[in-house]
Amino acid sequence: LENGLVQTPPMGFNNWNSTHCRADFNEQMVRGIADLFISRGLKDAGYTYVNLDDCWAEPNRDASGNLVPNRTRFPNGIKAVADYVHGKGLKFGIYTSAGTKTCDSQGFPGGIGHEQQDANLFASWGVDYLKYDNCGDHLGQSAQQRYTTMRDALRATGRPIVFSICEWGSNAPWDWAQPVGNLWRTTGDIEDNWGSMLNIFKSNVQRSTDSQRGAWNDPDMLEVGNGGMTDTEYRSHFTLWSMMNAPLLIGADLRTASDATYSILTNRDVIALDQDGLGVQATEISNANGLHVLTKPLDSGDVAVALFNENGSAATISTTATAAGLGNATSYRLTDLWSKAVTTTSGAISASVPAHGTVVYRVSRAGAFATPPAGTTQVSALS
Ligand code: GLA
Repeated sequence: LENGLVQTPPMGFNNWNSTHCRADFNEQMVRGIADLFISRGLKDAGYTYVNLDDCWAEPNRDASGNLVPNRTRFPNGIKAVADYVHGKGLKFGIYTSAGTKTCDSQGFPGGIGHEQQDANLFASWGVDYLKYDNCGDHLGQSAQQRYTTMRDALRATGRPIVFSICEWGSNAPWDWAQPVGNLWRTTGDIEDNWGSMLNIFKSNVQRSTDSQRGAWNDPDMLEVGNGGMTDTEYRSHFTLWSMMNAPLLIGADLRTASDATYSILTNRDVIALDQDGLGVQATEISNANGLHVLTKPLDSGDVAVALFNENGSAATISTTATAAGLGNATSYRLTDLWSKAVTTTSGAISASVPAHGTVVYRVSRAGAFATPPAGTTQVSALS
């Protein structure tokens, strides 16, 4: 969506994966998360959006048809929370659905038929990001119609609001959503387990040519730190999401997260892949027997290469600089973005990768060009 927003994928937090609709989703939580964004260095690492998911509202609109914040969870209203988040130099997001109801079994009011009224209310509260889900009755309208109506309503508010389409890849959004949303879900909901994360990866990785700057594939929010995977698996999850230019929306309750969780979420070298200015999603260049090789061109001319082992035993995964699109140099520098080890190679890119693990390198041309890169004239050897 050409609204000038999220020229790199959005980074932030959403409560859904840690709380669902439990009572601990409330004003205190949101304030606590915003505080931790500052005190634990998440804002400095690039995390910006503090987003509310389903269940923030009362079950019924008021007499004027306006949505009403849940009086127990948000006794001071939503604007007070948004103001608090903004006061930390962060941005604030909210949720509703492109149908008559939201997805929680209680079925909170959805946005269909109320698009402009709801968009105006959100803008008046200072909302910077809207996740627009797909539950409730669609009143006979197509997904494209329903999401386009809300896009236009958000635009008409005059407030810059990131628009997140959440129809779970049900209507091939990659074929129509680039001018409608800033991101679109490509799959059903993630769960905090290895099989769910793996399946979503395998689906989303096939969509690599459909995303572009400001219009990203969304393989759903992070589960890193929620306890259902090992730290090795969470490092794979975080690396793969970054290679795929996914939104990096933290799904763990940061108030109780471990130091290991924080260190995964704040790996700036991996985040830099997600946030790279070229905005090109990784391509899977091979996948033999669950040994995946992904490459992602970066704006410096480097290429990120991820070696991902989906199997339950360690394996060596190998590729070459030529296969990664980095031919023409006599040597290359490999920086392992988790261990930080730096090695050089004449072209082989290889690692022993633990079960369910990922080794990711930033690969730079380090030596002289063996032959001049296409389209250039070689005037002197580069060192
Ligand atoms: C759907 C969405 C989830 C979450 C829930 C809330 O399942 O896909 O991300 O927002 O609704 O009810």
